[in-house]
Amino acid sequence: MNFSKDDKMDKIKIGVIGTGYWGKKHVFEYSQLKEAELSWICDLDKSLLKTLSKDHNIPNITTNYKDVLESDVKAVSICSNNENHYKLAKEALLAGKHVLLEKPMTTSSKTSQDLVNIAKKAKRQLAVGHIFRFNDGLSEVKKLIKKGYFGDIYFLRLQWTTVLNPKNPIDVILDLCPHTFDIMNYLLDEWPIKITCTGKAYRKKNLEDVAFIMAEFKNGICAHTEVSWLLPGKVRELYVIGSKRSANVECLSQKVLVFENGKEINLNITANNTIASELSHFLDSIKKGSTLSNDGEIGTKTLQLIEASKESLKKGKTIEI
Ligand SMILES: NC(=O)c1ccc[n+]([C@@H]2O[C@H](COP(=O)([O-])OP(=O)(O)OC[C@H]3O[C@@H](n4cnc5c(N)ncnc54)[C@H](O)[C@@H]3O)[C@@H](O)[C@H]2O)c1
Repeated sequence: MNFSKDDKMDKIKIGVIGTGYWGKKHVFEYSQLKEAELSWICDLDKSLLKTLSKDHNIPNITTNYKDVLESDVKAVSICSNNENHYKLAKEALLAGKHVLLEKPMTTSSKTSQDLVNIAKKAKRQLAVGHIFRFNDGLSEVKKLIKKGYFGDIYFLRLQWTTVLNPKNPIDVILDLCPHTFDIMNYLLDEWPIKITCTGKAYRKKNLEDVAFIMAEFKNGICAHTEVSWLLPGKVRELYVIGSKRSANVECLSQKVLVFENGKEINLNITANNTIASELSHFLDSIKKGSTLSNDGEIGTKTLQLIEASKESLKKGKTIEI
């Protein structure tokens, strides 16, 4: 899409609700994007808002999200705590705003589906922060899978581990598996049909800080995921194992290493700015009314799989979806 550089009329007026660790990144990227006019920011922390508005020249700040929803912004990014995603997104959609909602979309598939229905009825875009759909390393691997470069895909292995303290009421599955389930679907164009999950809550009762999930697909492919808040370091790594070749993807640096008959080939991918790409895609979908690749249906499906994982963990058995 071509926006003329300085034509304000072409810019989409935006508000960001929740400007903590992740929301600040939305603020920064919107303030750089020519397609956006970042008009409002909202957080409970007023001093944070003052600093951000000064740094990025944002005209309106508020600690009350209703001010943003009553304003003339066309769209909002919601980057607040998971527990209020549903309430804020619902009110935003009913106020006629397009919504980019951070992951996990809500805390249940029921409320996520409700948002999908509300967005449809209101004819508004509902995007979810499934940022790995905008990762050039993963996009390249997806293309190669489609072309048959790896041969038959046998399995995927994902490791999503970080050192973090448990944050009641969020466990590691709700926190990290929106990404891992989304990546499986992005690469394979399929959702798992069976989920088997084990895990442990070491530090806080009922709040798993480690989990191991086996996801099985109808074509025999499976995906094994390790998520943890205890393993030292930060790892966002994927292996694709195929009959002809295999690959290792380091999802943060976007480095892709292919293994072929004992040789290692570096695919030389230049890492893109994934948040900027995600926000541009959202703005583009508003302008053109085009389909989102990270829509609310995808967010809802990841929540269903998270619920299946927790059910499997609780009952000690495989759950069919
Ligand atoms: N897509 C990704 O890769 C990614 C990465 C990190 C975090 N996230 C998601 O982003 C969201 C925020 O995470 P975070 O790490 O930035 O948390 P955070 O605690 O640093 O920030 C949350 C902010 O929301 C504000 N807030 C809470 N309720 C509010 C309300 N009613 N109105 C306005 N502001 C309110 C808080 O004051 C806080 O500043 C979470 O849903 C998280 O899962 C996504």
